[in-house]
Order: sequence, then structure tokens, then C-alpha cells
Amino acid sequence: MCRKKIALVGAGQIGGTMALALAQKQLGDIVLVDVVEGVPQGKSLDIMEGRSVINSSAILSGTNNYADLAGSDVVIVTAGVPRKPGMSRDDLLGINYSIIEKVGIALKETAPNAFVIVVTNPLDAMVYAMQKVTGFPANKVVGMAGVLDSARLACFVAMELGVSAEDVQAVVMGGHGDTMVSFYNCVSVGGIPLPQLMNKETFDKLAARTANAGGEIVNLLKNGSAFYSPGLSAIKMAEAYLLDKKSVLTCAAMLNGEYGVKGLYCGVPVVMGAKGVEKILEVSMNDAEKAAFDNSVKAVKGLVEWVDGHSK
Ligand code: APR
Repeated sequence: MCRKKIALVGAGQIGGTMALALAQKQLGDIVLVDVVEGVPQGKSLDIMEGRSVINSSAILSGTNNYADLAGSDVVIVTAGVPRKPGMSRDDLLGINYSIIEKVGIALKETAPNAFVIVVTNPLDAMVYAMQKVTGFPANKVVGMAGVLDSARLACFVAMELGVSAEDVQAVVMGGHGDTMVSFYNCVSVGGIPLPQLMNKETFDKLAARTANAGGEIVNLLKNGSAFYSPGLSAIKMAEAYLLDKKSVLTCAAMLNGEYGVKGLYCGVPVVMGAKGVEKILEVSMNDAEKAAFDNSVKAVKGLVEWVDGHSK
């Protein structure tokens, strides 16, 4: 059992999923924080009561007070509202920005050394806002999207080929929106490059489904967005940091000239360990991929300009 302090700001669907996964993995003690009275307390107590069943020594608590974030090693932020059918992630910009601003101000006071993982949408703009409000080093403020988008593509490839998803590795980059880019040459199936197993036309269909995968689930749920796979993806990132795994995963990281982009958060493959984002990896792109990536960066830039115009 690793007794680090992990705070989950937002105890909704994703927050609850993460609390359970963290308790099962015993990655640390868990504090659930939410504005709704009773929900973080109830969810943490519910999982506490199940610990002897899952053989976990994690201690969970729930609070409505940001002061309880004090001393957190990792903070995962899902505070905000999810989208409903017919909404894009970008439609959440105004409402979720004001929430991220409040949480960021609290984090600056209470947990200045934390590794912060933002999940709230629209992701690339919200993680940018979080870094700006807190002033924390950019390597310690990241956004969860690429792990999820890549996992979704890996799932669709595995389903198409009839193989185990655990043997499929995929890379989806760019903004966490309709413009995200799936890389044909970066998918491997048990170490075999995908182009040897699947034609590009089939891949393009799976890539299109990936870009719309969040919307597909919103349309099914009708009253919220995906939460199991987003929660598990964020925990994978927390684990890489807490265990200094040097994991290669895709996340929204602040670019400083990589891919010709500076001062923006965008989904790229990184090495993640005890220093947070320890290295940004640059994959080679063909002309079409580069054009698609640049288009995605342009979409992120539009949202970030809105944030810059609204931040104090
Ligand atoms: N501080 C703390 N918690 C807050 C705040 C705040 N200022 N404002 C809202 N919350 C809480 C809500 O009370 C709710 O419990 O955030 C929680 C969000 O949970 P859900 O509505 O269940 O949403 P969820 O599915 O978990 O998604 C959260 O992640 O993937 C993104 O688009 C999604 O932006 C959404 C976020």
C-alpha cells in the first residue's frame, strides 16, 4: 500500500469510478471533494465499507471544503458539467471555465506541490486554464484525453481484428475533440505494425468512430457522458506519476516548440514519471497527418484564445 494523498475534485460519475479504482489499486489515501453536500461523503463511505471485500487498506474521506486538499500529492479534477446529447465538448467552455478557475485558485493555496490531472472538458482549454490560474510548472499540470482516445481506437481495432485489446497499442493525438488524429502507422498488434494486418480504408472508419466515440456514448446515456474508461485512463496517468513508471502515454501536455507549437496544450505522446511530463516524444508524420494535426491545434487555439480573453 502506497500512502500518498490523492484528491479527486468532483465526486460525480468519473470521480466515483476513480475512487473505486484507486482503492482497488491501493495507490494512496483518497479524498473526494465536491460542492454537493453528502455525495463525496457518501461515495467515500460506501467504498470504505467494501474494503475488506477487495482487500484494500486505502482510507477514503469526503468533503465539501477545498481546505482538505492540503498536502495532496496528486489531484485529479473532474469538477464541472458533462455534455448532453446534441452538445459538443466546446459547448461546456464558459460554465466549466468558471469552475476550473475556482478549483485552480484553491489548489494554488492548498496543494502547491501536487501533480494535477485535468479531465474536465473542453479538455485542452481547461488544462491550459488550470496551469495559467495555478502558475504550477507545466510538467506538473496535464490533461487526460490521449490515454482514453488511444484506448478507444485500440478497442475498435481489436474488435475489428478479433484480437485481445490488451495486445493493441494505438496513438491518437491533437485536441480532444472532433479534430483528433489517429495514426495508422503508430498502431501495433502484438508488435506487428497495423498496416500489415488492416487496410487504410478500414482503419479510417475506425478512426472516424474514435473521434466520435465520446458522442456515441453521450447519445446512448442521454444524461451524461462516458465515465468508466475516462476514470480508468486518468488513474493510469496517476499511477505512472506515483510509481515513477516512465510510462509512454499520450496526454495533453504543454508544448514548447515541439511539433512547431508553443505555449499550447495538445495531445502528444510523453514519458510520464515522478517529474510529471519528463519528455515529449515527437512522432514523424506524413503530409496528410501533419495537416490534420495542425488543423486540430488550430481548434485548440480558438478555445485557448477564449480562455485568455476571460482570465483575470
Ligand atoms: N468544485 C467541486 N466539484 C464541483 C464543482 C466545484 N466548483 N462544480 C461542480 N462540481 C461537481 C459536481 O457537483 C459533480 O458531482 O463535479 C461533478 C461532476 O460530475 P458529473 O456531473 O457526474 O460529470 P462526470 O461524468 O464525472 O464528468 C466530469 O469530465 O469528461 C469530463 O465532460 C466531462 O466536464 C465533464 C467532467
